Amino acid sequence: MESFSHLNNPIHFQKYLDENHVQKVIEAEFNNEKNYFFIAEYDNEPAGFFKIVFDEHEDQPLLKDKKCLELERIYILNKFQGLKISSEIIDKTFKIAADHQFELVWLGVWENNIKAITIYKKWGFEIFGSHIFNLGGDLQTDLLMRKNVNPHKN
Ligand SMILES: CC(C)(COP(=O)(O)OP(=O)(O)OC[C@H]1O[C@@H](n2cnc3c(N)ncnc32)[C@H](O)[C@@H]1OP(=O)(O)O)[C@@H](O)C(=O)NCCC(=O)NCCS
Repeated sequence: MESFSHLNNPIHFQKYLDENHVQKVIEAEFNNEKNYFFIAEYDNEPAGFFKIVFDEHEDQPLLKDKKCLELERIYILNKFQGLKISSEIIDKTFKIAADHQFELVWLGVWENNIKAITIYKKWGFEIFGSHIFNLGGDLQTDLLMRKNVNPHKN
């Protein structure tokens, strides 16, 4: 909420929250066994969270025949941004990918989120496509980025 509300039309943003931040949707997310949620701590305080999804391809042709791990969300609370917590998160994601023999890690990121895109590129992610993200009726473009994590299989 604190990350994106000021960057979007409040009507679309509220509609998105009303449709998605409801108990039924959140419970379904938690009950899906492909989803894993992690809390990032800084000095014993919760500073952010991330979600990974096992074996998610979203029918993307370039992901279809690969064993894929999706890094779906990274959110760092404003007061903890700038501390490179996202680097720890990406590193942890790669470790999980290696432990479970995934071939690549991919993610979608809003095309205007230059900070996040810069960080992902620094970690070796490459843009391979895009998809439309419906934010309460505002159709936004997410860039799709991927990184091979098992060089022997790619
Ligand atoms: C994007 C986000 C995850 C980054 O997390 P973070 O741990 O605070 O990242 P940091 O600010 O410590 O920056 C890490 C790197 O990005 C660089 N960076 C910071 N601000 C930047 C900007 N505006 N543009 C380009 N690069 C930037 C930093 O210089 C740093 O690079 P370095 O490691 O070479 O020094 C965090 O800002 C966040 O949660 N944002 C809101 C939610 C969001 O956008 N999530 C991503 C959804 S895909």
